[in-house]
Amino acid sequence: MRPLLIILALAAALGAALAQDEVSQRQDLMKEIAEAMNRINRMFSGQEPYSGQVLKTAAETVRLRAGTTMVELFSHNSASVVSQARPEIWERKEEFQELALYLERFAGIVAEAGRNNPDDLTDAMRMRSGTPMGGGSLLGGRGTVWPGEDEDVPAEHAFHLMMETCASCHARFRYRRE
Ligand code: HEC
Repeated sequence: MRPLLIILALAAALGAALAQDEVSQRQDLMKEIAEAMNRINRMFSGQEPYSGQVLKTAAETVRLRAGTTMVELFSHNSASVVSQARPEIWERKEEFQELALYLERFAGIVAEAGRNNPDDLTDAMRMRSGTPMGGGSLLGGRGTVWPGEDEDVPAEHAFHLMMETCASCHARFRYRRE
């Protein structure tokens, strides 16, 4: 092989290896946030005693992995056999990024509630009937997710919005594992 071809072949192999590395990194990241979500869920559903510290830490685990941190692990079209990422991620980057940022924002609301309520899961943290629902429709389209200030969103409601964000992004940008 001529030297140039060797260099090109090496560069291609390196590129593939880096892309693969990125795929496993983001899969690990997703697993970490899934574990943290389970923890939060157990607390809201009473399967685990409440601790503001634990709630805060779990929500922070998600928050710090959402937003640009998440988006950066989808740096280039690295859809591959081992990846469930859909090519639409790179065709509709803004929409993908918006969902990652929503997740960061909602996780911040839950973390803040944990910080402010160290000992008790208060009524104010609970989802109330009459709570204006964001829901899939809001995440589906553009517009305000919450009509008021973030600090008025009950933590449990913010947690539901987090779950809807996971589901919205997966429905649009992830192949289903059969
Ligand atoms: C902005 C889009 C987006 C958001 C938000 C998002 N995900 Fe994902 N998730 C993906 C994509 C894309 C994949 C596939 C990644 C791949 O295989 O390369 C994935 C994969 C996963 C996986 C499989 C990881 C593996 O082992 O292969 C889990 C579990 C997961 N996500 C959980 C979550 C949870 C829980 C949330 C919400 C707290 C969430 N995700 C939020 C886009 C998203």
